[in-house]
Order: sequence, then structure tokens, then C-alpha cells
Amino acid sequence: MAKVLVLYYSSYGHIAEMAAAVAEGVRDAGAQAVVKRVPELVPEAVAQRSGYAHDPTEIAGVAELADYDAVIIGTPTRFGTMAAQMKNFLDQAGGLWANDALVGRVGSVFTSTGSQHGGQETTIVTTQIVLLHLGMVVVGLPYSFKGQLRMDEITGGSPYGASTLAEGPGGGDRRPTANELDGARFQGRHVAMIAGVLAAARPGVA
Ligand SMILES: Cc1cc2nc3c(=O)[nH]c(=O)nc-3n(C[C@H](O)[C@H](O)[C@H](O)COP(=O)(O)O)c2cc1C
Repeated sequence: MAKVLVLYYSSYGHIAEMAAAVAEGVRDAGAQAVVKRVPELVPEAVAQRSGYAHDPTEIAGVAELADYDAVIIGTPTRFGTMAAQMKNFLDQAGGLWANDALVGRVGSVFTSTGSQHGGQETTIVTTQIVLLHLGMVVVGLPYSFKGQLRMDEITGGSPYGASTLAEGPGGGDRRPTANELDGARFQGRHVAMIAGVLAAARPGVA
């Protein structure tokens, strides 16, 4: 059974909601899903002033990344790229990089933006670059998830990965839609399936 980490950062809960849907998809595929977040970095006063959501989800350690067959990263966009909280976490993976610990594991990314064209694709693709440096096999959200072709409503989702729109720089009233959550579940299932196949072929894995 593939073991998949859904690792996220979320200030206002949109990515946290998407992460739960990604994990559902992983479990639908018969794999084990672990959901964890990366540590907050902004001062408590800033988090409070900005209305950040309290999130009791367990915090991941960098070394444990090597324990998973796949890591699915969720990050809101910050100026068109991943949040510093996620980058800070990944920047501590130098030891894993040096030991080739993540080579051949599956990596995948989903995101959230405040606006429709605020950097959904740039955030995912630039985060995928980090995964490629770590030697991971990058998996997106294939067009077999037909929901990304919808034109009858505003929706996230692209071949790069699932996404949602939060509406504005703060929390925003918009929450992930049914279609966006379907995309997240699809990505979770898709990654878990591929991770299972690769894990079975990896030397030293029963
Ligand atoms: C400092 C900062 C920079 C942001 N930059 C962008 C941006 O470049 N494009 C955009 O559409 N939204 C931007 N946003 C909005 C966030 O992406 C949005 O709040 C987030 O996707 C909501 O996800 P969350 O609820 O999981 O935190 C920014 C927000 C902050 C606080």
C-alpha cells in the first residue's frame, strides 16, 4: 500500500480544505494518506491581525519526507509563487537532496489564489521545480479530470494541479467549489495510483 503525505500551508483554510479532499482521493485509491502542515512563520500578532485560521493539524518534520512514496504539496500563492512557510520547509531538505532520499518518489502540487489570474499556474509550476531538484517524479492533474474544462462557472484546476480561488488577498468569502474539490480528490487518487506502481518497482520495497 502506497503511503502518501499531503503536506500543506494555509492561512485562511482554503488549502486546508483542499488538502482534506486530496487525502480522500488518496484513500479512495486504497493508499494510506497522512495529512500534515508546515510551521507558521509570521509573528503571532500578524497572524491575529490578518485573521489567520487556527489549525490544529500536526506539523511535519523535514526528515519524514523520506518515509513516503509520494508527497502532495498544497500552498496558497504569495506574489505568484509558493508561500514562504512552504519554501522555508523545503529549504531544509538539503540533507535529503544530498542523500538522494526522495529520488523516484512522486511529487505533486495544488494551490489557491485570491484572484483568477493571480498566479495559479506559476505557483504550481515553480513549486514543481523544487520537486524536480529533489529527484521526484512530478505528477499533475491530467485532462481525464474533465472538470478542469468547465466554462459554465469560475473554477480552479489545470493540468498542473488542482486549485481553488479564495477571492481577494485575505480570506475571502469564496470557498472551494464542488468541482475544485473533485479535482483535488482526482489528483489524490491519481498520485496514489502512480506512487503505488513506482513503490512496487523500487529496490528494497516489498
Ligand atoms: C502576502 C500575500 C500575497 C498574495 N499574493 C497573491 C497573488 O500573487 N495572487 C493572488 O491571486 N493572490 C494572492 N494572495 C492571496 C492568497 O493566495 C489567498 O489568500 C490564499 O490563496 C488563500 O488560501 P488559504 O485560505 O489556504 O490561506 C496573496 C496573499 C497574501 C497575504
